Amino acid sequence: MRLLVTAGPTREDLDPVRFLSNRSSGRMGYALAAALRDLGHQVILISGPVERPAPAGVERVAVWSAREMLAACRRRWPEADGLAAVAAVADYRPARRARGKLKRRPGEPIRLDLVPNPDIVATLARRKGRRRVLGFALESGRGLERARRKLVEKNLDWIALNGPEAQDADQAEILLLDAIGVPLAIGPAPKAELARELAQRTFGPAVG
Ligand code: CTP
Repeated sequence: MRLLVTAGPTREDLDPVRFLSNRSSGRMGYALAAALRDLGHQVILISGPVERPAPAGVERVAVWSAREMLAACRRRWPEADGLAAVAAVADYRPARRARGKLKRRPGEPIRLDLVPNPDIVATLARRKGRRRVLGFALESGRGLERARRKLVEKNLDWIALNGPEAQDADQAEILLLDAIGVPLAIGPAPKAELARELAQRTFGPAVG
């Protein structure tokens, strides 16, 4: 299969030198891209800014913001057979990107107006037809219920639930859910190992 994998954080510009982002290292997404490649899939990795090389044999499309990531995903979705959405997409972006560097005004608080970003995985999954989509959910507390809701609302086939401690960590633990079965616990294990098991349990080996 030809599979899209989104990975890493997105950066949402405030002005030419500042942005809002998050702690995502891209490790899990890159590990999953490599694991899917090892199972014989053709992988297109749509990645926010991270400091790691693209896995050998994987095509990387570098993007900056959530809107750029969505545009890149949309361009490649028609040729793809599935999607794994691992990116930690910023949910909001500054309502305006200042053309010049914002000036400091000593002693005065400033307010940032934020507007919602598009939901990339939900946008693509809406028009998935028979293609399959894996999403991630990062939840603290009462995660299972919320992850189940996301699975349905975003029209996903699987959702991998993990906690905030997984961000920027070497090891992690995930619960893999689908629409019908009991949750499957994977790990705690290094992310490369988790990724291999996750790839096996979702898209599986490429056939033919
Ligand atoms: N995702 C996405 N586009 C967004 C936000 C999230 O594609 N704008 C994807 C992520 O890649 C992940 C899944 O949606 O596969 C869940 O992301 P998560 O941040 O856990 O959930 P949210 O839907 O953003 O909900 P909340 O932050 O309220 O928990």
